Amino acid sequence: MGDNVKEEIEKLKREKDVVILAHYYVDGQVQKLADFVGDSYFLAKKATEVIEHNILFCGVSFMGESAKILNPDKCVVMADETADCPMAHMADVDRIAEVRQKYPDVAVVCYVNSTAEIKAYSDVCVTSSNALRVVRALPNRDIFFVPDENLGHYVARHIPEKNFIFNHGFCHVHTSIYKEEVIHAKERHPYALVLAHPECKEEVLEISDFIGSTSEILSFAQLSEAKEFIICTEIGVFYELELKNPNKKFYSVGHRQFCPNMKKISVKKVLHALETLEPTVEMNEKLRVKAARPLSRMLELAK
Ligand code: 13P
Ligand code: SF4
Repeated sequence: MGDNVKEEIEKLKREKDVVILAHYYVDGQVQKLADFVGDSYFLAKKATEVIEHNILFCGVSFMGESAKILNPDKCVVMADETADCPMAHMADVDRIAEVRQKYPDVAVVCYVNSTAEIKAYSDVCVTSSNALRVVRALPNRDIFFVPDENLGHYVARHIPEKNFIFNHGFCHVHTSIYKEEVIHAKERHPYALVLAHPECKEEVLEISDFIGSTSEILSFAQLSEAKEFIICTEIGVFYELELKNPNKKFYSVGHRQFCPNMKKISVKKVLHALETLEPTVEMNEKLRVKAARPLSRMLELAK
């Protein structure tokens, strides 16, 4: 990215009252020009704190939707409106209704990687960094965890006193990381610690030294005395890992650690969205109000 592009972006941000929020999985060049970069919990919270009228989101649809749900008076612009998380659609409102009928006291816990419609039918949202805290704080014993099965099982293993019902959603990026690949990476780098995202399969989590959200992986690597790490999450985190830890080494396990949707966002698209302030996130007000409840409850319980 040339200096003049960076200057142009800064000028447009000031003129048009825009703040840029980006997820750690977008390209490093895009992270470089964002005002705030973070994991999905940080970004949802940050969206409620910024003072600018326009929020330009560099991430997938559910992130922009959450920002709009929590801030209806703000204008939320997506850098690429086709960037969508397939897992966000892997839950079904009919199945939620069925489970509610079978378990009258169930809490429907919805991973924030979900559509506004699924959120609207849920009791509380969670992200990977607050799921344990939020689920522990719920009075309900029965928990229906949607859409991600792996994160659901990870939470269930930590909270054995509750009864979990699972849903068959998954992240194709994290479930493409195989135990054998991690073992090979460990053979190549015997001193490296394995850091994994809880969207990975249990077989990968079992052989990991640390499990956490993208920001938790970043802070663990920064605080650790170890010098080498095998990273089991999307490749975008390498930008911040290497920036913050120039004397440490980070290794990937395979070529599939790449989210094609997050990578749709380019500097060119950010510039275009800044010039036009389009496309914006629009939502039916009834749906927004229903989806806001579980998101606000998450922000409250995760404090
Ligand atoms: P976190 O940002 O909460 O770690 O989630 C990762 C993810 O897959 C976002 O799409
Ligand atoms: Fe969705 Fe997985 Fe991409 Fe995250 S990494 S946006 S969960 S497909």
